[in-house]
Amino acid sequence: MTRGVRVAEGAMPELSAELIALSARSDEALAAALPDESQPPTALHRAMRYSVLGGGKRLRPLLVYATGSAFSAPLTRLDAVAAAVEIIHAYSLIHDDLPAMDNDDLRRGRPTCHVAFGEAMAILAGDALQALAFELLANDEAIEVDAAIRVSMLRTLARACGSVGMAGGQAFDLAAVGQCLSASELERMHVHKTGALIRASIRLGAQAAGCVDEEKLEALDRYGHCIGLAFQIRDDILDVEGVSEKLGKTAGKDVAANKPTYPAILGLDASRTALHELTHQALQAIEPLGAAAAQLRELAIFVAERHA
Ligand code: IPE
Ligand code: IPE
Ligand code: MG
Ligand code: MG
Ligand code: MG
Repeated sequence: MTRGVRVAEGAMPELSAELIALSARSDEALAAALPDESQPPTALHRAMRYSVLGGGKRLRPLLVYATGSAFSAPLTRLDAVAAAVEIIHAYSLIHDDLPAMDNDDLRRGRPTCHVAFGEAMAILAGDALQALAFELLANDEAIEVDAAIRVSMLRTLARACGSVGMAGGQAFDLAAVGQCLSASELERMHVHKTGALIRASIRLGAQAAGCVDEEKLEALDRYGHCIGLAFQIRDDILDVEGVSEKLGKTAGKDVAANKPTYPAILGLDASRTALHELTHQALQAIEPLGAAAAQLRELAIFVAERHA
C-alpha cells in the first residue's frame, strides 16, 4: 500500500461495532419505510421488500450516518436519508441485473428480482423504489431541516440518479461493451454509474446535519469522488479475483460480457495502484475534519479492502 494506507490482501476488514450497529439500524429504517407485503399490489410490494431487505453491505446508508454524525446530527434525523439512498441503490441493482442490461441471475446470494418475480415486476419494483426514495426525502418529518435545504437535498438525489449521474453512467456502460475505452472514458463511466450515488450519500448526510460550510462540503465531495471511483474499481477487481459464493453474485461476468473494466483496460496491477492512490487521496481530503471523520476514514479503507 502506498503512503501509509494499510490495505492487506487476503484480510477482510472488520467494521467497527459502531458501524455494524448503524448497518442494523439502517435495516430497521428500511423495513419500516417499505410498503407492507399484505398491502395490494402484493406481488409488487413483495418484490420491493425482497430486493431491498435481502442483504447487502449497506455502504451508502453507512456513509449518510458517518457524515451526518461527523456534524453532530442525531441519528433519527438521518434514518430516512439513509433508507432513501439504499432504496435507490436497490432499484439500480434490480435494473442492472435485467436481461436487457447485465442479465444476471444471482444477487446478494439469491435469485435476482426478475428471476424471482418476472421481468415486468422487476421493472416496476425498480420504478416504485425510485419514487419511494424521493417520497421519503420529501415527507419524513424527522429530517428536521428547513424547506430550502430539503429541496436542495431532493436536487442532490435527483442529479445523482439521473442522466448526469447513475443512469447516465449505466448508459456509458452499455455503449462501451466491446469497446476499448481510454482511461479517462473508463473513469467517467465509473464516476457516473457508481460514484454519483456514493457522493450524494455523503453530501446528503452533511445537508441533513445542516452543514453549510462550503470548504467542508468541498472536502467531503473530494472524498466522495475518490471512494466512489475506488468502490467500482474494487468491484471490477473482485469480478476477476472473487468467488461467486462469497460475492453473492456471479464472478467473471465482466470478461464474459466483454465489459470495459479497470482490470480489462489497465491490468490488475495498475488497477490496484489506482485503488490505493484514490484511497490515499480520500483520506487526505478529510484530514481537516479531524477526529469527527473517524468513521469516514474507516469506510474508505473498507471500500479498498473489501472482499465482497
Ligand atoms: C454493487 O454494489 C454494484 C456497484 C455499484 C458496484 P454493492 O457492492 O454496494 O452491493 P451490495 O449493496 O453490497 O449488495
Ligand atoms: C452496477 O455496476 C452499477 C449500478 C448498479 C448503478 P456493475 O454492473 O458492475 O454491478 P454488479 O457487479 O452487477 O454488482
Ligand atoms: Mg452493470
Ligand atoms: Mg451488473
Ligand atoms: Mg460489477
